Amino acid sequence: MNHSKTLLLEAKKRSESRFDLHHLEEKLMISPLKKLMFKYFEFRIFKRLLSSLDVNLTGKRVLEGGCGAGYGIEVISNYLRPKEYYAFDLNKGMVERSRSVVKRKGLPVNVFQGDVTEINLPSEKFDIVFIFTVLHHESKWRAALKELNRVLKPNGLLIINEINSRSLNWFERYAKVYHPKTAHFTWNMFRYELNQAQFSILKEYLFLQDFGFFIGQKKPTRK
Ligand SMILES: C[S@@+](CC[C@H](N)C(=O)[O-])C[C@H]1O[C@@H](n2cnc3c(N)ncnc32)[C@H](O)[C@@H]1O
Repeated sequence: MNHSKTLLLEAKKRSESRFDLHHLEEKLMISPLKKLMFKYFEFRIFKRLLSSLDVNLTGKRVLEGGCGAGYGIEVISNYLRPKEYYAFDLNKGMVERSRSVVKRKGLPVNVFQGDVTEINLPSEKFDIVFIFTVLHHESKWRAALKELNRVLKPNGLLIINEINSRSLNWFERYAKVYHPKTAHFTWNMFRYELNQAQFSILKEYLFLQDFGFFIGQKKPTRK
């Protein structure tokens, strides 16, 4: 069996056994409320951070990890008009939802089932990688940051938001929604691991201290 088939099978196995999106979280992820939140809250914050960087983001090669129901696909496609857009999710149901967005809107986006800790794509392919509230689901989130770095071109941008251990503890306590303990991080840990994965932090914004928005840039490789 070739390497890409083996990776796909592994991703499928993981999505069926290891990964289970809590039903409340899944309901929120696919709801119209989340769509509005993404467009008018999360992505607005990123737009503000990006505009202060004064970089041209249109017509680039773009990857989105953990694309969920495809709300990012719609907004990013309209905003950036990417030259190429790949999006993946570990969860088969989410992949199907994203594919139906792509079909309905007639967007040229390649959606596939995949795992952020082992992305089945060549190194240094993308100018921009988006990943919205995915890593707190992934116990191997440090490896995921390294993978995201691998697929970025030198100086490419990582656009990422996350929630920290304080909010995850709150979800556990009051909503009984659990995430892997090993993916409970503080912002200091998160900044440290971004740096370890060879990203410089260009911009950062914390909303209520619990919801973090970061723009990282892949550091040039040391010779
Ligand atoms: C909280 S949802 C966010 C979805 C979407 N990014 C959004 O903001 O609407 C987390 C998503 O990450 C996906 N996910 C979790 N672990 C993953 C992994 N190892 N690789 C790829 N996707 C993953 C889940 O299936 C889910 O769709």
